[in-house]
Amino acid sequence: MKKNVVLFSKIPADQQERLAQAFNLTLFQGDPKTDISEFIQILANADGMIGSNIPTRIDDSFLQQTPKLKAAATISVGFDNYDLLALKKHGVRLMNTPKVLTESTADLIFTLLMATARRTVELSNLIHNGGWNKSITPEYFGTDIYGKTIGILGMGRIGQAIAKRAHCGFDMNIIYYNRSANTHVEQAYHAKRLELDDVLKQADFVVIILPLTDQTKRLITKQKLALMKSSAILINGARGAIIDEQALYEALKNKTIKAAGLDVFEVEPLAKDSPLLKLDNVLLSPHVGSATTETRYAMAKCAVDNIISALKPEQPTENWVNPEVG
Ligand code: DGY
Repeated sequence: MKKNVVLFSKIPADQQERLAQAFNLTLFQGDPKTDISEFIQILANADGMIGSNIPTRIDDSFLQQTPKLKAAATISVGFDNYDLLALKKHGVRLMNTPKVLTESTADLIFTLLMATARRTVELSNLIHNGGWNKSITPEYFGTDIYGKTIGILGMGRIGQAIAKRAHCGFDMNIIYYNRSANTHVEQAYHAKRLELDDVLKQADFVVIILPLTDQTKRLITKQKLALMKSSAILINGARGAIIDEQALYEALKNKTIKAAGLDVFEVEPLAKDSPLLKLDNVLLSPHVGSATTETRYAMAKCAVDNIISALKPEQPTENWVNPEVG
């Protein structure tokens, strides 16, 4: 008998068709943010769920209401909305899409770094607003990238892809903060692993690409921001909650750091009255690290493969976040 699977995101038609062939597929069209009880009701009879940006935490109380659930496939590399202890307790396999988005996310982070350093959006807006009447004067000058020091917080796949760009394209000096040493980046790109405070003190560009966990939540506090050079630029392509956003606003406003490029925020979408909107020295991007046509397709396909393998009795061979579930 076919298993019941709920799809709660829009995915390409051919991938949805694969799900419909493999399972009794139910689409959740509502916005889970507003329709949580409806979402739970639909999941009450589901063996599996697949989708992205699940806005509610999948924790013990959620899983108590979805007793048949055996597998969840998130269309993302991040899985911070899933409580791993609760998934273990309820025997739910969790799958993610880690490999397919590495390069496009590293590209977006480098885009933010370059555009923030060279003030691309600000200068484009100047022209749009009819302000280019003479040669650009020093108050609009940018910051060099080539040969500078980049501090990468998090040296997983994406951190490594950023290091490759920094070394091969921009001859940057690479320092990084990570739980464990990454010998590949140390040998191939001469990267040096340091304590967090030393990375913050020495880097011209600080790039955050850590997973959001209990250990990394609010890792970048007011005190940590105060360690950064006043000429430094901060890029966050990971999760907004890793930075104390109010402290970041103050650091940018008081110019204790030069600028920031942010693809992620504590609350998404960013509130219409966020103080960050008032600042010129922050480049804002709507969480689009993996948002290219090719990569989003690859992520959807990977997640469909994942839910198909996770709902088999055998153990999945890749992209399995919580093998402890068995
Ligand atoms: C990811 O894959 O985790 C991206 O940040 C999208 O949520």
